[in-house]
Amino acid sequence: MSTELGSAGNPLRVAVIGSGPAGFYAAAQLLSSKDPVVAVDVFDRLMTPWGLVRFGVAPDHPKIKSVTRVFERTARMQGFSFHGNVEVGTDVSHDELAAAYHAVLYAVGTPGDRRLGIPGEDLAGSESATEFVAWYNGHPDYADMDFDLSSKRAVVIGNGNVALDVARMLALSVQELQVTDIADHAIELLRASQIEEIVVLGRRGPTQAAFTNPELRELADLELADVIVDPADLELDPASANALETADGTIQRNVETLNGYAARTPAGRPRRIVLRFLSSPVAIEGSDRVEAIVVGRNELVATEDGTIRARPTGTTERIETGLVLRAVGYVGRPLPGVPFDERRQTVLNQGGRVLDPERELPIPGLYAAGWIKRGPSGVIGTNKKCAQETTDLVLADFAAGVLPQPSDTPEALLARLRERTQVTDYSGWEAIDAHERALGEPHGRPRVKLVRRDEQLARAAKV
Ligand SMILES: Cc1cc2nc3c(=O)[nH]c(=O)nc-3n(C[C@H](O)[C@H](O)[C@H](O)COP(=O)(O)OP(=O)(O)OC[C@H]3O[C@@H](n4cnc5c(N)ncnc54)[C@H](O)[C@@H]3O)c2cc1C
Ligand SMILES: NC(=O)c1ccc[n+]([C@@H]2O[C@H](COP(=O)([O-])OP(=O)(O)OC[C@H]3O[C@@H](n4cnc5c(N)ncnc54)[C@H](OP(=O)(O)O)[C@@H]3O)[C@@H](O)[C@H]2O)c1
Repeated sequence: MSTELGSAGNPLRVAVIGSGPAGFYAAAQLLSSKDPVVAVDVFDRLMTPWGLVRFGVAPDHPKIKSVTRVFERTARMQGFSFHGNVEVGTDVSHDELAAAYHAVLYAVGTPGDRRLGIPGEDLAGSESATEFVAWYNGHPDYADMDFDLSSKRAVVIGNGNVALDVARMLALSVQELQVTDIADHAIELLRASQIEEIVVLGRRGPTQAAFTNPELRELADLELADVIVDPADLELDPASANALETADGTIQRNVETLNGYAARTPAGRPRRIVLRFLSSPVAIEGSDRVEAIVVGRNELVATEDGTIRARPTGTTERIETGLVLRAVGYVGRPLPGVPFDERRQTVLNQGGRVLDPERELPIPGLYAAGWIKRGPSGVIGTNKKCAQETTDLVLADFAAGVLPQPSDTPEALLARLRERTQVTDYSGWEAIDAHERALGEPHGRPRVKLVRRDEQLARAAKV
């Protein structure tokens, strides 16, 4: 058997950090290469793969999660390995990985939450949607969180799909929730929820909302909630009216759906989702926890570059609430030893090649894909194209002979890692998966998630 680098006897060794969509798409693309032959070690800080498909996608959207079947096929490809419970930056350093592999590709997502920068943001009861979502989806780092759902009104800030997800989760009935894979602790808390009104605040207008059509339309199907839109909020300023004429189909259909909601007479359901526009949070008030949010009214102005911005009119109002959920976007976190772009809050990169910040030239053998490469936007499928751009560069750099020669081996590194932490493998995940599905089956649920690391480890280690 040939031992030339890139042959079956001596494959190119690539470490992919992160087992979300970007990591799995990148792994599949690299493993599909015939020349060179590539072996891929996927690392994740968790024992469970799929990233935000498991911990982001809403529990009542099971069809979306079926993308994991594609990832399961990747895990069966020749040359694939999964190493769970290994956090890069804590259990293993970037330098150690770079010394052991020909290339290291970061696909770690953007797990932080964007801040509003307003007074009262840190009061108890002002929470990030990032945490709320991770909590109801059973992410082990958030299993002990608690949310106070005892007030009659919750306010969600933001006009993206995450804002709609969290608003919907607060509006769903227990009957709707208990057939999903939502964490058991979340069902218990939501069962006792006193929330009757969920106000969703957009700082700009309906034509600038980042919702997608199915997500906006499905609010109409909620068993317990009416959707309320004030027709006055849908009167467009001249710039937005102009933009709507040439806007893409998503925006046109969103505006149609919103007009439909505004024209409806509420059915008198026990809960209400109120969609409000041109409304920015100015301050969150309360003595030791949230009691109200002050909201400023905006008008929209077209800027020279054609974007439409919100400008405060000076009018404010106070909305009483005990829970504020900030759904204004995610941000990346720097990893020790990996150049970070502070402005974009991503890994510093060009098309997926990580750049040396001083020379602004690619660092040989270092790459990024997914949200940590391009920022926190786009659906699951967007990461396929994004990963392809990066993996094409890995293979081009191999062909050009610019990948560094490792001074260590993955096997030696993994042996050291096993002395530091309990590394789990793909069969460990399969054991967790089978157990969760078996727990869910008698209750007509896709799975009951194990939300504690020790429970997961016990299952994974039994293999
Ligand atoms: C709340 C929410 C709901 C969504 N719903 C949908 C939807 O319904 N449909 C849709 O198409 N898209 C949806 N998306 C978008 C979709 O989830 C993202 O496009 C996609 O998950 C991004 O993939 P990624 O691989 O870049 O990051 P992620 O999915 O975040 O994966 C990153 C992985 O890296 C791991 N990791 C992080 N740091 C380290 C470290 N230091 N060491 C080792 N491992 C690490 C994490 O554990 C994780 O497994 C949603 C997003 C959110 C936030
Ligand atoms: N079902 C699905 O397919 C699904 C579900 C969830 C998420 N996703 C995807 O995941 C990605 C991330 O979603 P996301 O909702 O986190 O992000 P997003 O789509 O970027 O939306 C963020 C929202 O926050 C607003 N915002 C930002 N800063 C603000 C501030 N200081 N004050 C008030 N509002 C502020 C933005 O308004 P401006 O526009 O004015 O900046 C925008 O409306 C998106 O691509 C989304 O489509 C998809």
